[in-house]
Amino acid sequence: MKQELLNKYSVPVPRYTSYPPANFFNESFTADSYSDTVVKSNEQNPRHISIYVHIPFCYQMCFYCGCNSQLLKSKPVISDYIDALKKEIRMTLPLLDHSRKISQIHYGGGTPTSQPVAVLREINRMILSEFECIENPEIAIECHPGYMDKNYWNELFDAGFNRISIGVQDFNNDVLKASNRKPSRMPMADIVHILRSKGMSLNMDFIYGLPLQTPESFADTITKAIALKPDRIVTFSYAHVPWVNELQKNLEAIGLPSVSTKNAIYETAKSLLTDAGYKAIGLDHFVLPDDELYKALESKTLHRNFQGYCTRRTTGQVYAFGITGISQLAAAYSQNTKDLDTYIRQVNAGLFPIAKGYILNPEEQITREVVTALMCNYTVNWADIANQLNISVNEVKAALNYKEDLLADFAKDGIIEFDDKHIHVLPEAAPFVRNVAASLDKLMLNGEKHYSKSV
Ligand SMILES: C[S@@+](CC[C@H](N)C(=O)[O-])C[C@H]1O[C@@H](n2cnc3c(N)ncnc32)[C@H](O)[C@@H]1O
Ligand code: SF4
Repeated sequence: MKQELLNKYSVPVPRYTSYPPANFFNESFTADSYSDTVVKSNEQNPRHISIYVHIPFCYQMCFYCGCNSQLLKSKPVISDYIDALKKEIRMTLPLLDHSRKISQIHYGGGTPTSQPVAVLREINRMILSEFECIENPEIAIECHPGYMDKNYWNELFDAGFNRISIGVQDFNNDVLKASNRKPSRMPMADIVHILRSKGMSLNMDFIYGLPLQTPESFADTITKAIALKPDRIVTFSYAHVPWVNELQKNLEAIGLPSVSTKNAIYETAKSLLTDAGYKAIGLDHFVLPDDELYKALESKTLHRNFQGYCTRRTTGQVYAFGITGISQLAAAYSQNTKDLDTYIRQVNAGLFPIAKGYILNPEEQITREVVTALMCNYTVNWADIANQLNISVNEVKAALNYKEDLLADFAKDGIIEFDDKHIHVLPEAAPFVRNVAASLDKLMLNGEKHYSKSV
């Protein structure tokens, strides 16, 4: 990739894990707005129910962490939290139409595996005893291998899980140490053997852009990952947001790789993965060719929600539980309080613990479809989006900051091809997809928000 393009496009833009991005959520969205939109969501699409359960606790804070996590608390606080979590679930499930089916349950954090597996099993049972599931639902959990023993890995299947995401981050212990993170307690090959023997699907998460990483060291990590053949390998681009997490300043002190080194680390990893037969999904996911995400990409039906990439089959409106949890409904987002004590107190008082949210106006609902199409499938087909929303192509474009001169500039730089029917992000320019999405986004015209750089 040419240096001048990197310089030109390495600018702060949203990550577009949601549209509008989470920094647009506001406090005028209340607990009443939440219960109203949950009831309305029963009549809206997607019809399936996707559940997110947030366990915020971690044994030790990794310096790079951009997640909603906090150090493990005392036992009474943890058990108060888990009790409140179960109560919040019991308050919400009756609002949902019980003829809808569960397509996904996802445990994230923090570190969900900081809790005994029996706790997770009980929560799964509470949900699954009330609703039917689609065929092959995705019941997934993020695991920190630094603290998990053989019994824990063995019990995940009986607790109801069928997809395991292992947070490897890097196989290089010096990189982990510089990031204040413990390496895996068991050899990764033994973990993979246990999970595969139970027929479970396997993801591995890595981060690039950390101190001490070089293209060579990360190539070694990715080569080890490929040898273990997980179904999905995720290489997250390290998002440096020290104004959100002060601990990240520790990494500045050690020294972060330059933009061009970070890009070289990514390109090297990407070549290794694609040479080994993995298929790229978006920028950071690499999947085996028989994975349903790749099939969805080929048929341009790839989707994304707060649980990550999914397909039309598995996608659902997301109902989130636990502190910081973000529910993603057809016409609104709602985020729970970030404060543990407030969460426990409000739930125990029978109140939904909502801190903020956002009701999407019709223009934003249109923009969300365009941004999702770009971010997932690297293509916007104006007629498809118009058909999907039952409006005209002109109405779709009018909802956007659609400016031919801006698109022409991207085309001149070799980032997109476009005509009056399509925008198509060129494969070699995939890292700039966020820049293209941001150029179409009217909310970016008011530039007061902070974002991490695109590359
Ligand atoms: C909730 S965390 C992981 C779960 C578990 N606590 C662990 O550490 O393995 C989900 C993933 O987000 C990624 N992540 C965390 N901080 C990040 C950051 N600042 N930039 C990019 N990715 C990040 C990591 O790869 C991590 O595996
Ligand atoms: S990366 Fe995982 S273990 Fe580390 S602080 Fe973040 S959530 Fe906790």
